[in-house]
Amino acid sequence: MVAGSAAIVLAAGLGKRMRSRVPKVLHPVGGKPMLLRVLEAVRAVAELVVVVVGHGADQVERLLPHGVRTARQAQPLGTGDAVRCGLEVLPEIHGPLLVAYGDTPLIRADTLRTLLAAHQEGGFAATLAVGMLDDPTGFGRVLRDARGQFQRVVEEADCTPEQRAEREVNLGLCCFEIAPLRQVLDQLRPTNAQGEYYLTDVFGLLQASGFRVGTVELGEVMDLMGVNSRRQLAAAEAELRRRTVERLMDLGVTVLDPASIYVAPEVEVGEDTILLPFTVLEAGTVVGRECTLGPGAHVRGSRIGDRVRVWWSVVEESEVGDDCRIGPYAHLRPGTRLASRVVVGNFAELKNTTVGEDTKVQHVSYLGDATVGRGVNVGAGTVTCNFKYGVPGKHRTVIEDGAFIGSDTMLNAPVRVGAGAVTGAGSVVTKDIPPGMVAVGVPARVIRRARQENGKP
Ligand code: UD1
Ligand code: CA
Repeated sequence: MVAGSAAIVLAAGLGKRMRSRVPKVLHPVGGKPMLLRVLEAVRAVAELVVVVVGHGADQVERLLPHGVRTARQAQPLGTGDAVRCGLEVLPEIHGPLLVAYGDTPLIRADTLRTLLAAHQEGGFAATLAVGMLDDPTGFGRVLRDARGQFQRVVEEADCTPEQRAEREVNLGLCCFEIAPLRQVLDQLRPTNAQGEYYLTDVFGLLQASGFRVGTVELGEVMDLMGVNSRRQLAAAEAELRRRTVERLMDLGVTVLDPASIYVAPEVEVGEDTILLPFTVLEAGTVVGRECTLGPGAHVRGSRIGDRVRVWWSVVEESEVGDDCRIGPYAHLRPGTRLASRVVVGNFAELKNTTVGEDTKVQHVSYLGDATVGRGVNVGAGTVTCNFKYGVPGKHRTVIEDGAFIGSDTMLNAPVRVGAGAVTGAGSVVTKDIPPGMVAVGVPARVIRRARQENGKP
């Protein structure tokens, strides 16, 4: 945090080039709206944050985290006008004011700190981040005099062919002393190619009025890459993905083919885990050590233990204990909790179900709203019938430790299968089965005591 500092984040623009009904700053990058990524960086540095909203304001405001203020820009008259709107709701501050654009999702807090440090050390009235680009298309160009002294920024639409050839650009992150900024904002005029009040004219105006304007050249220009189009959205996504995968590799994760996996930046993966192609790890996922995920593991909002194998399967909002094996073609839906060494195999679907250690659900089963004990064998084709026609709500099935569920058993919930009990193939269980008993038939009836090994889990 920089004492007394504030930030204005601009998020009111139309985003025309996106061709979208969704406000540009809400398009996700790395699974999160880009504006929220900008705010994370900004809030790590600035004490007070104002977001200027306009186009799609209600939608944008709904997403904002607690503690940020908003200002409304009635019409998108340009970035200069947007900053003026932001200042209207900003209380007196005694530190510097950062201005960031809401369409730069790759921005890092360290970049903001670098800019602020240069601004304060240089004693500038305004400081802007600049960079040298091989292809400066879309950016405002930085103009300097013969001695290399900063003069002003000219927007691409207003460039002469000569100016257009300049490779030094305004990266779109800047910092001001409040008093001089207020003074020149009123002097902005929309007499330019786009008919807008450009924030970028402020630098030339300050310079011409005798204030000192500083520039900071950033090496990592991708940090401030602006997203104006779907192509740039994809480019930002690719860059964030590259950074994420490299971070994981540096932490000891093996990635067979970095180009073929998708990992949200917030995901944690333990050492010696191997990520195979076509693996998607979405936000809220934590993976332990020595796992093998993929090919084709899609995990969202889940906690995966150590030495787990997941392949060609989907895991959503679930917990998977150590040494479990999931897949191929399994689906763990929200609320599934597997203890250690559980096997969930081909075409098994689990939902809101707890499974004890060493239990096996190897083939073609549906377990919903169930509590399954330890060492249970769930035969192929087992179904928990948790929904009753005409009866509201879902009903629970309990399968106690060591039970053996024969193939194609229908468990008509609410129902309980006692410890070590056995069901015959094709039985339809409508009543509780006492521990250690064998039940068969349709509806299943208890016929005899189960053999010892099933009676003692
Ligand atoms: C802007 C800069 C340009 C710089 C580039 C860097 C200006 C005039 N130009 O151009 O010099 O090189 O960023 O990426 O500042 N916005 C509002 N209200 C408005 C207009 C825009 O809040 O009336 C917001 C947008 O939502 C966006 C940000 O300001 O988040 C930048 O606007 P955008 O139109 O993307 O500016 P660029 O043309 O990219
Ligand atoms: Ca932009």
